[in-house]
Amino acid sequence: MSQQWKPVCSVADIPVLGARVVKRAVQPDVAIFRNSEDKVFALLDRCPHKGGPLSQGIVFGERVACPLHNWNIALDTGCAAEPDEGCTQKFSVKVEDGRVYLDVNELNLPAREVKAA
Ligand code: FES
Repeated sequence: MSQQWKPVCSVADIPVLGARVVKRAVQPDVAIFRNSEDKVFALLDRCPHKGGPLSQGIVFGERVACPLHNWNIALDTGCAAEPDEGCTQKFSVKVEDGRVYLDVNELNLPAREVKAA
C-alpha cells in the first residue's frame, strides 16, 4: 500500500523531550515524540508492559521512560530496553518544512501485536 501522508501538527507543537497525542478512529491513539535534537518519532500510545500512556513519559536520547513503571522504550523501534521485553507498534513519520506527517493508511489500521526482533 502506498503511503498517503497527512499533516498532523508542527514540530514546534510537540514539547521538547515530550509528546503529543494524535487521536484516531481506532484505539489506542498514537503518540508523537520530539527529542532534544528535534527528531520526531511516532509510537502507539501504549506501553508494551501494562499499557501505560507513553505520551506522558519523559524523553531522553532516543528513548521514552514509561510513566507507570519506568520501562525504557526505544523511540525508533518501539521495543523495551533489556532486561525488559516487548515492543509497541511504531508508525511511519515524516517531517518536512517543520510539519509532521503520519501515514493515513497506517493510522486507520487497528493496532498490531508486535514481536521483538
Ligand atoms: S506500563 Fe509501562 S512500564 Fe509498566
